[in-house]
Amino acid sequence: MLTEEIQHLKKESEKDFSSVESSKELEELRIKYLSRNGLLSHLFEALKEVPKEEKPQVGKNLNELRNSLTEKFNLLKSNLEKSDYTSKEKIDLTLPGTIRKIGSKHIIIQTLDEIKSIFKGMGFSVFEGPELESDFNNFEALNFPPDHPARDMQDTFFISKDFLLRTHTSPVQIRIMNRFKPPVRAIIPGLCYRNEAISTRSYCVFHQVEGLYVDTDVTFAELKGTLVSFAKQFYMEELKYRFRPSFFPFTEPSAEMDITCFICKGEGCRVCKNSGWLEILGCGMVDPNVFENVGYDPEMFTGYAFGMGIERIALLKYGIDDIRKLYENDLRFLKQF
Ligand code: DAH
Repeated sequence: MLTEEIQHLKKESEKDFSSVESSKELEELRIKYLSRNGLLSHLFEALKEVPKEEKPQVGKNLNELRNSLTEKFNLLKSNLEKSDYTSKEKIDLTLPGTIRKIGSKHIIIQTLDEIKSIFKGMGFSVFEGPELESDFNNFEALNFPPDHPARDMQDTFFISKDFLLRTHTSPVQIRIMNRFKPPVRAIIPGLCYRNEAISTRSYCVFHQVEGLYVDTDVTFAELKGTLVSFAKQFYMEELKYRFRPSFFPFTEPSAEMDITCFICKGEGCRVCKNSGWLEILGCGMVDPNVFENVGYDPEMFTGYAFGMGIERIALLKYGIDDIRKLYENDLRFLKQF
């Protein structure tokens, strides 16, 4: 009788212990089987009634069952404690790490950096000036008298009668010459503003890089040499170039520089409008009137200046068809550079 009950309890307990998942369930099983009022105690109680000859064997069986249940209980308890600890920690060291996204330089800044480093290599220093400028520095000192038609070339955001958002980086030439005596050899990167309709080719905000070199005996040949050397380093060694006469109030003579279209290598394509040439900058010899405005003696000093638009250069270099893409901050676009 008791032997059968022991067998039954053994089976039942094996089933119960095999499905334990929490400390709470384990404690319930301890109470059910191993506590003072538990099923095992009842069997030990019943042992008293067993005939003498059978007692040793049945007692042995009962003891074995109790030992094995106690052992199972202890093992499960320690396992559950361990897993409790790890689940509190919530660190799974086998998971792959998270990759942090880091930003990169905007394509305009990359282009600017490249231009700066080429000119630094030729002995130019980098200067900057304010974006809010006086009408005097932006126009007047650069030889645009009031009502001069050349002012119409640059649609201006006026802040007041005398102040405006600079329409080009050229006013920083004036600031530099007011501050330093010749020789000066500077490049000036910065933002400019024009009140223009926004389209694929023009935007109301854009970057320019200005260049200025003043010393005794600076010649147009030096201007050409410097710009050609720049263009070869920036675009391609084997390019052809040409200087076309042009007009800017602050330079005399003035020119615009064209280079072989580096996309079609001069064959003619959509970008160069089939001419084989791309205009890349304006330049010229500093007008004596400008020297007078900053207190330099035009009899003693000569100089050259140049200015280029960075967006245009970046669009051409990377084959981008719409200037607005540079300002939309669409990551799908920006990630490509
Ligand atoms: N400031 C001119 C513009 O925005 C560009 C320019 C032309 C700058 C000739 C110069 C220069 O320094 O010499 O259109």
